Amino acid sequence: MIEEKLAIVTGASRETGLGFETAKQLTELGYRVIVTARNVDSLAALADQIGAIARPLDITDDKSVQQFAQEVEQQFGKLDALVNNAGAYFDAGQQPLSAEMDFVKDAFDANLLGAWRMIKAFVPLLEKSGHGRIVNVSSGAGSFTDPVFGLPHHPNGVPVYALTKLALNGLTVKLAKQLEGSTIKINAVCPGFVATYPGTAEWGARPVQEGAKSIVWGVTLPDDGPSGGFFRDGQPIAW
Ligand SMILES: NC(=O)c1ccc[n+]([C@@H]2O[C@H](COP(=O)([O-])OP(=O)(O)OC[C@H]3O[C@@H](n4cnc5c(N)ncnc54)[C@H](OP(=O)(O)O)[C@@H]3O)[C@@H](O)[C@H]2O)c1
Repeated sequence: MIEEKLAIVTGASRETGLGFETAKQLTELGYRVIVTARNVDSLAALADQIGAIARPLDITDDKSVQQFAQEVEQQFGKLDALVNNAGAYFDAGQQPLSAEMDFVKDAFDANLLGAWRMIKAFVPLLEKSGHGRIVNVSSGAGSFTDPVFGLPHHPNGVPVYALTKLALNGLTVKLAKQLEGSTIKINAVCPGFVATYPGTAEWGARPVQEGAKSIVWGVTLPDDGPSGGFFRDGQPIAW
């Protein structure tokens, strides 16, 4: 059993992505971090830069998630934080009536069920921490009220992506209810509109460091912190 805090960050294979920056900030705070993704080569190179452990993982694969949880249990015996950051299927320019149902299934499998699988597999280890934290990286696109990117407003449609995040927020509430009375806190966090891809800063996206800080806040919550909420920059945001 290790004494330092152990965190898992999924979806950390892109240098300009939120997963890598979140992992970097957590290592700077003294966490031992396991980063995961499918693209092993880029993941391993990035993990080396920050002294993290790289582990290939497809969050849509039940067996791979189960096996990973067994490995973490054998090697570390506990987990302090799970950051469900991996996400994709940003269907810009699409509308619900033009959605391909296979795309919809794949998107829910990754963005909703991926986080759900990880949580089911790792809750026993998070319980052993005594201060387990789960952060589901969500989006204002899945809220009703975000004035720019919310469900009734998003300028690029993104119906499938938005609905996966709406469901992820709902899952967060349901899990928080079930975990009431445990030492685990679970929250959904929106990182804001973040410049993780070229050209987005020109559209007003903020630096990845700021978006990741919003996620790290959910990892470092004190024992009397909230659970079951939706936050950006440590502030509750409306659904
Ligand atoms: N950027 C924004 O403005 C913004 C705003 C709100 C919310 N978010 C959310 O923040 C998170 C990160 O966004 P980002 O912009 O940093 O995205 P990104 O750079 O595209 O990173 C997504 C990561 O998810 C991994 N991934 C995708 N499918 C996976 C799977 N099936 N199994 C395992 N890993 C998988 C990818 O790695 P592999 O392909 O190597 O597996 C990649 O490392 C996402 O959940 C996104 O929805 C972003």
